[in-house]
Amino acid sequence: MDTRDSSSATSHRWLHRIAAILAIGTILLIAKGGLVHSAGAGLSVPDWPTTYGENMFTYPLEKWTGGIVYEHGHRLIASGIGVLMIIVTMWIWLKDNRRWLKWLSAAALLAVIVQGVLGGLTVLMRLPTAVSVSHAMLAQSFMLMTVLIAAATSPRWSKPTPPMPVEAGRGLQRLLLATVIFTFIQILLGAITRHTYSGMAISDFPLNNGQIIPAFTSFGVAIQFAHRIGAVVLTAMIFTQGVRILRNRDLAKLRTPAIAAIAMVTVQFLLGATVIWTREAIVPNTLHVMGGAITFAVVFLVYARSVRYYRFASSEEPGSEMHLQGVRA
Ligand code: HEM
Ligand code: HEM
Repeated sequence: MDTRDSSSATSHRWLHRIAAILAIGTILLIAKGGLVHSAGAGLSVPDWPTTYGENMFTYPLEKWTGGIVYEHGHRLIASGIGVLMIIVTMWIWLKDNRRWLKWLSAAALLAVIVQGVLGGLTVLMRLPTAVSVSHAMLAQSFMLMTVLIAAATSPRWSKPTPPMPVEAGRGLQRLLLATVIFTFIQILLGAITRHTYSGMAISDFPLNNGQIIPAFTSFGVAIQFAHRIGAVVLTAMIFTQGVRILRNRDLAKLRTPAIAAIAMVTVQFLLGATVIWTREAIVPNTLHVMGGAITFAVVFLVYARSVRYYRFASSEEPGSEMHLQGVRA
């Protein structure tokens, strides 16, 4: 390896480290945002982009009291994430030659700017449901972009090896993608439950207001029941994909994220139940928001790795049997 190659490898290693800090930092910021809402601190700082009329970066520490700690802290950490995103984007545009990664980083930079503006708008407009839900969902989408950037800049991922053909049908890969999409829908149902203040519309678990199917007396009952049904469906999807991956020796690179997804959805299900049993105590409620983000990240990693490392056989295509035999040979 000549010196230019090794300095470019070192530069890439640092890019990957910073991208990983960005992704993990974003998950923690999502938890911090969840804390702002769970603690009812969304309007502790009533103005934006100023903080009580002062520059947010020089707002004196002794004035940080009560909910201001949550809300103002959230703004400052969000600014740090914005700065990291600018650094990662510039680095990728200067040093990485993958076009898709350049555009992904540009899209993520745009997303974090819009996210900041949505955060400001939700304050100025006094937390309207649509803006708060959009802020929650764009947070999750942005987080996913940062996870993909971190994965794609890892030294292993960047090695130019073509995807390996495997003895697994496209049906499985479609299930992996469907699981990612359904996780987004499940989080959206959770965010609507949360921002229409429907968390206690059904106040028991595992029953639903004393019945298996509750009386749909309000929007809150309907939306929370949909979120509960969604939890059962998502758990079933994640377990199904996990078992199919673990049974297939070809898919070794998907095992770890598949096991992590099973563990996460189980924890997330129990956290959801705890939110109800504790009547929305701050800690389980905040962890449930963060758990949603981690579940989303790991199911996405299963799918992203399946695309990067493997070429799935298409059982529907004519001649696929031949293709599979080719794989076996
Ligand atoms: C990278 C940027 C940001 C991310 C990833 C982010 C993420 C989040 C998340 C995940 C929540 C919780 C949503 C929920 O509980 O359903 C939240 C809440 C909140 N965020 Fe942000 N945020 C960012 C920037 C900002 C900024 C710049 C502000 C400026 C004011 C802001 C203000 C708020 C407020 C007020 C809430 C509470 C909303 C409510 O109670 O309904 N956020 N944020
Ligand atoms: C297993 C998959 C589950 C996932 C991925 C999930 C995800 C989420 C997320 C991400 C949120 C917050 C959305 C936001 O505003 O950012 C949420 C809210 C909520 N979830 Fe879940 N959830 C799951 C299961 C459950 C279960 C089993 C229950 C109840 C038994 C539950 C009850 C709730 C409630 C009540 C809220 C609203 C909390 C509030 O009002 O503050 N969740 N869910």
